[in-house]
Amino acid sequence: MVPSTGCNKTRTAVFISGTGTNLKSLIKFSRNAKSPISIDLVISNNSKAKGLDYAKKFKIKKKVLNFKKKKLSEEKLLSILKINNINMICLAGFMKILSGNFIKKFKGKILNIHPSLLPKYKGLNSHKRVLNNKEKYSGCTVHFVNARLDSGKIILQKKVKISKNETETSLAKKILVQEHKLYPKAILKAFNL
Ligand code: GAR
Repeated sequence: MVPSTGCNKTRTAVFISGTGTNLKSLIKFSRNAKSPISIDLVISNNSKAKGLDYAKKFKIKKKVLNFKKKKLSEEKLLSILKINNINMICLAGFMKILSGNFIKKFKGKILNIHPSLLPKYKGLNSHKRVLNNKEKYSGCTVHFVNARLDSGKIILQKKVKISKNETETSLAKKILVQEHKLYPKAILKAFNL
C-alpha cells in the first residue's frame, strides 16, 4: 500500500455487520498522528448493527446497504465510495462476501480481519470448529482480500493459547482483545511503516 502524498491520510471506509469493536479500535488508531489512514465512511449491511453508533459518536458518515440484491448493492456501494474519495477498505466483522468484480475495483486495497490462524478455519464458526478439533492454539489474522474467501496474502497474525475450560464465548472474547491490537499494526505493516 502506498501512503497518500503530503500530510493527507489515505481515505478509508470500514465495513461492519455487528458490534463494531474493531471499528472503534480502528477509529482511535486513525486519529493518532502516526496513522496513515483516516476513517471517512462506515458501511453496514445491517441497519441494526450496534457498530453504527460509533459512526455517530465519532461523527463519521455512514451508509446502510442491505445486500439483498448483491449486484445492485455493490454498484451503489462503488458509487458511494467514489463520491467519498475512498481509497482503502477495512472489513471489520463484515459478514457478506464481496464479489470478484467488486474486489477487482479495489485490488490490493481491501483488508480483512478473521478470528482464526488462517489458512486454518476459514469461513464461519471458527471458534466452534477450533474447540471441536481440540486445538491447542487459535488466534486472529489480518490479510489482503482476494476473490477466494479468507485466502488473500497474510499481513499479520497473533496466536492465543486455548485454556482448559475454554468455551466459544471465552475464546471469542480473548481473540477479540488481540484483534483490536493486531488490525492497527497490520495497517502500519501494509503501508511499510
Ligand atoms: C471479529 O471477531 C471478527 O474477526 C469477526 O467478527 C467479529 C466482529 O467483531 N469477523 C469474521 O468472522 C469475518 N468472517 P466486532 O464487530 O466487534 O469488530
